[in-house]
Amino acid sequence: MTTLDHSYVEKGSWKPDLFKDKVVFVTGGAGTICKVQTEALVLLGANAAVIGRNEKKTKDAAADIAKLRPGAKVIGIGNVDVREVQDLAGAVKQTVDELGKIDFVIAGAAGNFLADFNHLSTKAFKAVVSIDLLGSFNTVKACFEQLKKNKGAIIFVSATLHYYGVPFQSHVGAAKAGVDALSNALAVELGPLGIRSNCIAPGMIDGTEGMARLTPPGSDPLQTRVPLQRLGTTRDIADSTVYLFSPAADYVTGTVSVNDGGAWHMGNFT
Ligand code: HXC
Repeated sequence: MTTLDHSYVEKGSWKPDLFKDKVVFVTGGAGTICKVQTEALVLLGANAAVIGRNEKKTKDAAADIAKLRPGAKVIGIGNVDVREVQDLAGAVKQTVDELGKIDFVIAGAAGNFLADFNHLSTKAFKAVVSIDLLGSFNTVKACFEQLKKNKGAIIFVSATLHYYGVPFQSHVGAAKAGVDALSNALAVELGPLGIRSNCIAPGMIDGTEGMARLTPPGSDPLQTRVPLQRLGTTRDIADSTVYLFSPAADYVTGTVSVNDGGAWHMGNFT
């Protein structure tokens, strides 16, 4: 099942053909946030490659998204571990063979769990940094020739928890701080090639695996810690994604678009 439907095009803020003839490559594309980012781009005319570790989940997500727009081409490529650049190189080749090119990249694959520092093993820290940070690097590395050829754009899915100290999240905070730094460096280094690089930092997004994993049972109502008085939605993230890939953001690179209702200014995530 998809989250968005045709009303996103009919009643939304975006023109229907905004991404006609564009191709997006999305790691973690079967996950809650990245799937809805992909749904929005496909509804607005793009074709997409959904990349994931789990073969069935990835292919099912791609099939769901493809139903959103007649003629949409959405392929699911499973068994890809972003820690292995060769896996990604294979996925890029398949995407170019089947969809013709890659214009946009969403580096969204992530791993997370709550663990206090004392019980966080070296292997566990490395697993998360390898998925979130090295995986983001590998994704852009594998897509680089396509991004260069098509003057493409990158969105990294980051977080806000490294803006301050969040307990039990040292591994993810360290990784996401690295993701922001990677994006900034690429914005500067790849800007002259016409490639833009930006981050989206979701806050507390309703219905996501991240929320389920990170919100302790019985914690205070989250809305009281969000200036805009509500949790975020996956559609909020999709809207920022559409903006950052659209021509309206042609002069925007090296930014972090924080989508958290202002929550991080209140100084605590959980
Ligand atoms: C403590 C844990 C753990 C847990 C795994 N480990 N889960 N430690 N608490 N809950 C430890 C293991 O014991 C092992 O260390 C090490 O991590 C590697 O575990 P593996 O299972 O071998 O690794 P792997 O199969 O590669 O799994 C990667 C993973 C896993 C990150 C650990 O959770 C995963 O694949 N998750 C993918 C899905 C996911 O996390 N989605 C959440 C996205 S939400 P030892 O030393 O014991 O061998 C999100 C939001 C981020 O990312 C932003 C927040 C705002």
